[in-house]
Amino acid sequence: MNSITRLLLTGAGIIGITTLLTGCGASGSPDLYKDSSQPVEKRVESLLSQMTLDEKLGQLNQRSMWDGDNALSYFSGEIASGNIGSLLNVPSPFHADSMQRVAMEQSRLGIPLLISRDVIHGYKTIFPIPLGQAATFDTLIVEKGARIAAVEASSDGIRWTFAPMIDIARDPRWGRIAEGCGEDVYLTRLMSRAMVKGFQGDDLTDPTSMAACAKHFVGYGASESGRDYNSTFIPERLLRNIYLPPFEEACKAGCLTYMSSFNDNDGVPASGNKFVLTDILRGEWGFNGFVVSDWASVGEMVNHGFCADNKEAAMKGLNAGVDMEMESCTYITHMKELLDEGKVKIDDIDKSVANILRVKFMLGLFEKPYIATPQEVKYSEPHLAAAKEAAMKSAILLKNDNDVLPLSQGVKRILLTGPLADARHDQMGTWVFDGEKDKTVTLLDALRKEYGNDITVIYEPALGYSRDKNEAGIARAVNAARGVDAVIAVVGEESILSGEAHCLADLDLVGAQGKLIEALSRTGKPLVTVVMAGRPLTIKKQIDESDAVLYSFHPGTMGGPALADLIFGKESPSGKTPVTFPARVGQIPIYYSKNAGSRPAHGTETLINDIPQEGGQTSLGNTSYWLDAGFGPLFPFGYGLSYGKFDYADIALDKTSYSKDDCITATAKLTNSGKHKATEVAQLYIRDHAGSVTRPVKELKGFERVTLSPGESTTVTFRLPVSELAFYGADMKKNVEAGDFTLWIGGDSDCGLSTPFSVTD
Ligand code: NOJ
Repeated sequence: MNSITRLLLTGAGIIGITTLLTGCGASGSPDLYKDSSQPVEKRVESLLSQMTLDEKLGQLNQRSMWDGDNALSYFSGEIASGNIGSLLNVPSPFHADSMQRVAMEQSRLGIPLLISRDVIHGYKTIFPIPLGQAATFDTLIVEKGARIAAVEASSDGIRWTFAPMIDIARDPRWGRIAEGCGEDVYLTRLMSRAMVKGFQGDDLTDPTSMAACAKHFVGYGASESGRDYNSTFIPERLLRNIYLPPFEEACKAGCLTYMSSFNDNDGVPASGNKFVLTDILRGEWGFNGFVVSDWASVGEMVNHGFCADNKEAAMKGLNAGVDMEMESCTYITHMKELLDEGKVKIDDIDKSVANILRVKFMLGLFEKPYIATPQEVKYSEPHLAAAKEAAMKSAILLKNDNDVLPLSQGVKRILLTGPLADARHDQMGTWVFDGEKDKTVTLLDALRKEYGNDITVIYEPALGYSRDKNEAGIARAVNAARGVDAVIAVVGEESILSGEAHCLADLDLVGAQGKLIEALSRTGKPLVTVVMAGRPLTIKKQIDESDAVLYSFHPGTMGGPALADLIFGKESPSGKTPVTFPARVGQIPIYYSKNAGSRPAHGTETLINDIPQEGGQTSLGNTSYWLDAGFGPLFPFGYGLSYGKFDYADIALDKTSYSKDDCITATAKLTNSGKHKATEVAQLYIRDHAGSVTRPVKELKGFERVTLSPGESTTVTFRLPVSELAFYGADMKKNVEAGDFTLWIGGDSDCGLSTPFSVTD
């Protein structure tokens, strides 16, 4: 900015007139910013130099639109005056293009709006919830899902999505665990990259590209006691080693925006956290997009008790590094006064405006502001096929006694029961504003359509919905079970029981579903339980009572056909748990990548019923476990069976000692000794045995999906740069520390072959 404009900007009243009169000062022709052949930074500079303070504050203001009588006139007025830079929740493509036309044609400088929406796991074609997508351990299908979401959403004028949600979550009571990729840093990092790539595409100016938004920045997944909007207490080292890496990965992938989260960490609300929003994000990572607050999270710093009023909230938000404010309007209301009082600097306002304009230029919005993708892309055949593939890959086979699955040719009559067997709405999962339930294909639909010629499907839901406590239908289901060869019971959670603000203190099956499974189990018929949920549930009892259990985090539009093909063996299940399944709620937080602690449990612990009466108190020889729950989870991270049988052998490393710039090559022989062609997710874990600070007992550092026919073997090869072993140690610097390590290759975080290696200075 030139010095004259800078000087004048402190006197808010005359800025508009003066900048108008001086045109764009040092930045060339006033229309330079409209010239797409100019470098983005020059365009930003040129436009910024012509903006009044009011227009600048307008760019920082994001508003949610509504669909009503006065919406068009109200928003047209505000947009024409330059008071709004971005809209969310625009009701229709008509509204999107109409509002964009006002911005382009009626606002003084013709700055396009950035139209945004929560397109979280699909727009119309709904993919599995993100936790389910993470269970695929398949970055390609996840990237494809994000691309499809972008193609469909942009056809309605949406060029910015509030995704990916990459909060590490280790507490399934927290409803928002559904929206992320689970508990693991490495898996979430890779999924973060894949989703950013998918949403943003290869060319940002392509009309089907959407800006991604890495959220919620940061630490929100550690909400105390799994209760939403709660405080977090993450010390800096944990923040850097666990919670920040997926966000850094998003930055490296070119993610254009970040969203500051609702939580206060160690007393500082995320929207007022300069250390994270500015020092780390911009200073350390070099981010040059913009930060949007979460919904009203600037204003809510007053609720936190971090600001006395909205004016102070606006000051702290801007000074910390929140560029655009979602919905609470504290910036547009108070910023001029704050500027006059010298509490905020015009340079900081300018930086925020420039960050937002930069993204608008990068997306090519000035050149192509209107919808340019045909409407017909929605629910297209390839989109539905990809959604089916994702749902198929995301289902996790937790149990399969006596190979009851896949159902054999001999099965001619089946009973399909349970409240989620035909739940068009709930199958889509949380955060679905645009998917239509009429397009959902349920398991009932798929069995009738795809398999109905060969088998008789008797459908008796037994319960109306997951929370239904009316047990009357259970007897009908039990009766119907008498005449069939196998029973498939689809239970779990309605979609509204997970997601934002939907946390639970109890993770057992809700309603009378537990009783339904118990009653079906007593019939003695082969019982296949399918669980559709937004989180891992504590289903130990149902696991014991069922012959086979398939876990399908709400699988989306094509969940039904995917599950049908798995149940009848057209494909083998290949999903793996992206989060540890607790056996009991009291074990939470329970996750595989924990520190060892002083007395790790070893499996020979004395449980509550084995303690003698009046046993003497001693702490010697005791280890870290629960008297009533042992220490292990129900299922570890990375767990999942298939219809094959995978054996690992011959683990080997290319060397036993590595220098810090080496790359480790680790191999193992993988054989499918089962009877079915199947896919295994081979996983690589490491442990750093001693560090300047304690290190986790295991850390995932690689995975690969491998498909093998019966009897087939292959060598799985991982290449792990030693630099991937770096962590923030005692000096709070990221380094690889020399010493001894163990490396595992196996099928989950709790098993596998191991081999030692060392790293030297
Ligand atoms: C609040 C949620 O926390 C966030 O994830 C979402 O993107 C915004 N609202 C906008 O709907």
